Amino acid sequence: MRYTLIIFLIFTITLFATNGEMVFKSYCWGCHHQSATAFGPSFEEIATKRSREEIRAMVSDPEGVSKVFGYKRNAMPKLNISDENLTAITEYILSFKPKGKK
Ligand code: HEC
Repeated sequence: MRYTLIIFLIFTITLFATNGEMVFKSYCWGCHHQSATAFGPSFEEIATKRSREEIRAMVSDPEGVSKVFGYKRNAMPKLNISDENLTAITEYILSFKPKGKK
């Protein structure tokens, strides 16, 4: 019984192992694309101008942070994503930073 439980746990953890691309496809795609501007800016653009902390802050509190970023009206909804998914998506966005740019 105990082993079954352990195997079950390992299985589910592996299955739901978070991955930035999955988070992107389920929560952000449609409004953001990797390299083209959609409803929101592209990940390439975001990665070029924002830091890791700024991206995390924006996704956690779009209403408050969009004002700090200079947007007049906030159009990005607050998404209920776990801390783990937030880390995964932040790293995913940063992976689009064009090479050679700081
Ligand atoms: C319903 C559309 C929508 C969805 C879904 C959405 N966004 Fe946005 N996002 C926007 C818009 C529009 C902006 C521009 C700022 C604003 O209007 O508030 C934006 C802005 C941002 C910014 C800041 C851009 C800057 O100037 O640096 C980040 C970072 C961001 N989004 C990340 C995400 C991530 C990550 C997800 C998925 C977890 C996501 N967004 C889902 C529409 C969306």
